[in-house]
Amino acid sequence: MDEHKLREIAIDLFIDAVRLCYDYDYSGYAKASLRRRVIELCQSQGFNHIAEMIPYLLRNPDFIIPVINHLSVPVTKMYRDPLFFQSLREKIFPLLKTYPIITLWIAGCATGEEVWSVAIMLKEAGLLSRTQIYATDINPAAVATAKKGIVEMEKLKEYSKSYFESGGQESLLDYYNIAYGYGRVTPEILNKVDFETHNLVSDSSFCRPQLILCRNVFIYFNCQLQNKVINLFHQSLDNGGFLCISPKESLTCYSQKNNFIALNRKAGIFQKQGHRKKELQIRGSKIK
Ligand SMILES: C[S@@+](CC[C@H](N)C(=O)[O-])C[C@H]1O[C@@H](n2cnc3c(N)ncnc32)[C@H](O)[C@@H]1O
Repeated sequence: MDEHKLREIAIDLFIDAVRLCYDYDYSGYAKASLRRRVIELCQSQGFNHIAEMIPYLLRNPDFIIPVINHLSVPVTKMYRDPLFFQSLREKIFPLLKTYPIITLWIAGCATGEEVWSVAIMLKEAGLLSRTQIYATDINPAAVATAKKGIVEMEKLKEYSKSYFESGGQESLLDYYNIAYGYGRVTPEILNKVDFETHNLVSDSSFCRPQLILCRNVFIYFNCQLQNKVINLFHQSLDNGGFLCISPKESLTCYSQKNNFIALNRKAGIFQKQGHRKKELQIRGSKIK
C-alpha cells in the first residue's frame, strides 16, 4: 500500500480513537482541513507517523488536550467583520429592546473576544443589565482562558480600530482595567457571562435565546453536520429570534429552507420563522 493511502487510513483510525476513547466526534468535520490539522498535530507533538498517536492517545488521557486544541481551531478577534457588528448594533439591538429579558448564546466562543465585543455593545445600548449571555465552546482550555477576560494591551489597540469601524464611539479601553501590559474586562461585563463547555455535535439545547451567534464554526463542519447544528439552533431560538453566522458562511446546507429568512445575508444575519406570523411580518422586513 502506498504511503498516502496508509496516512489516510491512519487519520481515519485516529479520529475513530478520539471518538471511542473520549467521546469527541470529529467525523462530521470538513475532511480537507481536519486532515491538515491531524498532520500538524502529529508534527507539533514530535511523532513520526500519525498511527503512533493512536496507542499514545489510548494510554495518555492528557493527550486529548492538545488534540482538541489542534482540531478545533480557537482563533478569534474582537469585532471581526466590523460591518456585522454594525448591523447587530443598529438593526438587531433595537428589535431586542422589545424583550424584557434578553438571552444570548454565543456558540464556539473560543477565547472570548467575540463575547466581549457583543457585551460591550449591549452595555452601550443600555441592554446589558437585562441580558443573560451564555458563551460555549467544545475546547475546555479556550473556555478557561475566556473566563479570565484578559487581553494584551497591544491587541486591545488593534481591536480599537475594528471597534470604531463597527460604529463604537467610546474608547474600548474604558471597558478594561489595565495593569502590567494587560487589560481585564470590567467586572460589570465579566459577571454577565456564563462560560461553559458545550459540544455542538453531541450536546443538546439548554436555553431559549433571542439571539445566537455561531460565527466561523460552520466552516469546519461538513454539510450534514451543519444541517444538524442549524436544527439545534432552530429548536433553541425563541420565535422570531436571530441566528448570526460569519459572512464567509451560509445556510445553504440546511434542508428546512422555510425555517429561517435572511435579514442581511452579507453580514450573516438570519431570523427564525415561527408560528407568530403577524409578529414576524413586522419584525422580519429586510434590513441593510
Ligand atoms: C475559528 S473559532 C471562532 C471563534 C469566534 N466565534 C469568532 O468568530 O471569532 C471556532 C471555534 O469553534 C469551536 N468549535 C469547534 N467545534 C465545536 C463543537 N463541536 N462544539 C462547540 N464548539 C466548537 C472551536 O473550539 C473554536 O473555538
